[in-house]
Parts: sequence; C-alpha cells; structure tokens
Amino acid sequence: MSGRTALVTGAGSGIGYGVAETLAAAGAGVLVNDILPERAAEAARKLGQEPFPGDITQPDFIQQVKEKQVDILVNNAGFQHVAPLEDFAPEVFRRLLEVMLVGPFLLSRAVLPGMKARNFGRIINVASVHAKIASAYKAGYVSAKHGLLGLTRVTALETATFGVTANAICPGYVDTPLVRNQLKDLAASHNLTPEQALEQVILRPVPQKRLLTPAEIGYLALFLCSDAAASITAQGYTIDGGWSQV
Ligand SMILES: NC(=O)c1ccc[n+]([C@@H]2O[C@H](COP(=O)([O-])OP(=O)(O)OC[C@H]3O[C@@H](n4cnc5c(N)ncnc54)[C@H](O)[C@@H]3O)[C@@H](O)[C@H]2O)c1
Repeated sequence: MSGRTALVTGAGSGIGYGVAETLAAAGAGVLVNDILPERAAEAARKLGQEPFPGDITQPDFIQQVKEKQVDILVNNAGFQHVAPLEDFAPEVFRRLLEVMLVGPFLLSRAVLPGMKARNFGRIINVASVHAKIASAYKAGYVSAKHGLLGLTRVTALETATFGVTANAICPGYVDTPLVRNQLKDLAASHNLTPEQALEQVILRPVPQKRLLTPAEIGYLALFLCSDAAASITAQGYTIDGGWSQV
C-alpha cells in the first residue's frame, strides 16, 4: 500500500480504527477522520498517521477532502438507534441516513475525479448484514445500509473502466463500542447481565458463537484495496460467522 493515501471515516473507534490500523501497517498513509476531534487525534497518534477531524455530512469537511489526494476511501462512520417504527424520531431517522448514506455519497463525489484521473481508486463502504436483511426496531439503520449497498453498486458501474473499484463490506456483530453499548440496553430490557445478553440474544443465531474483531474487517478491506482484487467490484461482502445463512 505504500504511496497510497487512505481516508477512513469514523476511525477514532471500533471498525474504523481497525481498518486504519491494517492499512497503515501495510504501508498506506492514513487520514484518520472522526467527528470527535480528540478521538481522531488520539487514534492518529497511536497509528503514527495524520488526524483529519470533521463531520462527514458537513460541506466544509467535504471541501477539505477535495483538497487531498485520496486513493482509498473507507466510508465507515456510523451509529445505531433502536426504536419501534411509530416511536422512531424522524430527526434521528434522517440523521442515520445523512451519516451512513448521504455522507458516503458526498465523499465519493469528492474523491472520484482524482481517482479517475490517476486511473486508480478503491471505495469501501462499511455496510452491514443489515444491508441485506432486516431486524425489527432498526428502521433508520437498515434503510441507510440497504441504500449504501445500492450506492456501492452504482459507483462501481460508473467507475468500472477507470481502475476504480467500489465494494461494500457487510459485517455481522463486531466487538466495538457500538455493540457493547447496545448490550447494556438489551441486558436491561431482558433482565439479563450484559454477558448473558451477549450469549443469549446477540450470539444466539450466530453459528460461530463469537463477535467478529475489527482486525478481521481490516484484513478484508486490505484485500479489496490490493491489486489482486482489481476485478472485484460492485460486491457486498458478508462477513458474519455464518449468521445470515442460518
Ligand atoms: N459493530 C458492529 O457490529 C457493526 C456491524 C456491521 C456494521 N457496522 C458498521 O461499522 C461502522 C463502524 O461501527 P463501529 O461498531 O466501529 O462503531 P463505533 O461507534 O465504535 O465507531 C463509529 C465512529 O464513527 C464516528 N462518527 C459518527 N458520526 C460521524 C460523522 N458524522 N462524521 C465522522 N465520524 C463520525 C464516531 O464518533 C465513532 O468514533 C458503522 O457504519 C456501523 O454501522 C458495525
């Protein structure tokens, strides 16, 4: 990856940090983005890379991205919100789409002219198993992730002859703060301990009976960035310990 610059959004935590770490270890220069400046700074310091704080939905941040050379874009920033449809706050639904669908669209627009001109680019959208299947009470998240897989496919078709690939990674449950925070709520609503909620609720349908690690997502991203994956485009790679096949 040496000589390549990767922008990883939401890299101050969880999967984004894992992807940034894997790409940096493979020699890429990484722009470490997070909406929380202190997270971006701390992650960049640990990785020996450049902090690039900002809210990916804001025009001033998109403008800053246009001024960078980005060879690899990893659209990873996201969050979760769980509520029945009729109680789902419209502003939260809109924000989920803004961060996990509109943001990746704006960033792809910003980096594609440079990628096409250099005849090389990799766009990796961190979607979810929830880009392909639904779960109750996750209307905003499931809608955004289904949309992100559609955006991935359109991006791939429009860039196919420019040395650019666009793929989505669709993980099951990964051991990150996003999941650990859900565990506390799940435990409370099921009257269980967080460990019991992990085993009895989250991992119940997962054949491998474990959470994925951010590094596992990082290695798949690294492969998709490699020359070996030049013909792989428009795909949504499921990595879920077998969950979606049960
Ligand atoms: N953890 C899982 O089980 C899992 C499974 C499938 C998909 N995903 C997806 O992976 C991605 C990362 O999730 P995670 O589990 O690592 O979460 P996380 O909460 O650990 O990290 C997400 C990071 O994104 C940042 N962020 C949020 N909004 C932002 C914005 N507007 N601009 C810039 N940064 C922003 C947050 O500050 C945070 O540091 C998300 O898109 C999530 O939907 C997670």
